[in-house]
Amino acid sequence: MASDIFGQVQDLIQEIKSATPANQEELERFRIMYLGSKNKIKPLFGQMRNVPNEQKRDFGQALNEAKNVAEEKYEALKAQLDAAAFEDAAAEIDLTAPGEPFRLGTRHPVSIVMDEVIDIFSRIGFAVAEEREIEDDWHNFTAMNTPEDHPARDMQDTFYIKGFPNMLLRTHTSSVQSRVMTTQKPPIRIIAPGRVYRNETISARSHCQFHQVEGLYVDEGVSFADLKQTLLYFAREMYGKDARIRLRPSYFPFTEPSAEVDVYYGLADEHAYRMTKGTGWLEIMGCGMVDPAVLQNCGIDSEKYTGFAFGMGIERQAIIKYRVHDIRMFFENDVRFLRQFNKVVS
Ligand code: DAH
Repeated sequence: MASDIFGQVQDLIQEIKSATPANQEELERFRIMYLGSKNKIKPLFGQMRNVPNEQKRDFGQALNEAKNVAEEKYEALKAQLDAAAFEDAAAEIDLTAPGEPFRLGTRHPVSIVMDEVIDIFSRIGFAVAEEREIEDDWHNFTAMNTPEDHPARDMQDTFYIKGFPNMLLRTHTSSVQSRVMTTQKPPIRIIAPGRVYRNETISARSHCQFHQVEGLYVDEGVSFADLKQTLLYFAREMYGKDARIRLRPSYFPFTEPSAEVDVYYGLADEHAYRMTKGTGWLEIMGCGMVDPAVLQNCGIDSEKYTGFAFGMGIERQAIIKYRVHDIRMFFENDVRFLRQFNKVVS
């Protein structure tokens, strides 16, 4: 009787060993049959009470063996079938197919030109000075020799901060001159890049926000000749080694004498004709010798020191360099426009 039951367990072990589930479904059936909640091993445990005491241990071991054989076989086959399934799936992936294109951004033309201007002046010893865009009246206007009621203020109307009548969005980077000159001692040799604002109607030629780079050099014996040579150097670096400039007398409250700087653009086509109003010359910036009153306002001895200053619009340089026809394009963020300057951001 007992050997009968032992025989049943041995048969079951044999059955488990010889089973050959060949795919996921057959393996699942195998699992249900030998390891599921109604598996074939379970009822044999109920036979334990028919086994003589001295054989109970062996019987128990035989049943455990059956269970272990089923478990090991199941795990091994499952691993095999899973690996095969993975390989089948992998075989369907074409590793030589071209990848999804990853779009890199490009630098904004204003940034490209700004960096170029900074680079050009850095090479001759100008340090970058950055200052606030929300400025007080004194640094933007009064210190720059444009007191209240000065008619020059009309040309640079701006945005004021509600509740703070003395605070405004700076109209030019010239405000950095007064910031730097009140905190540093000569020699001062800085360029100030940054965003500026004006209360202007937006059109192809003007905008309520744009970018400027200011230049300031204050030391003993700085002359107009130094200014002119510095600007010629800039024009040649920026617009090519044959670039020509001319200085036209002009007026700015903070410089005396003052001048507008033009670069020769030519009259090669109709666009050039229109841009230069038929003269071939394009204005690129304003400049002059720092007015002694500005030096005094900022606590610098105007008997001892002289200086030159200049200020240029960055969009304007970009318009000239890239022949862009409308300043608004710089602020619309149309990628079809922006991608044309394709300097990829690294
Ligand atoms: N601040 C002037 C403007 O925004 C530009 C300028 C002209 C700056 C002459 C200067 C300068 O430093 O000397 O129109």
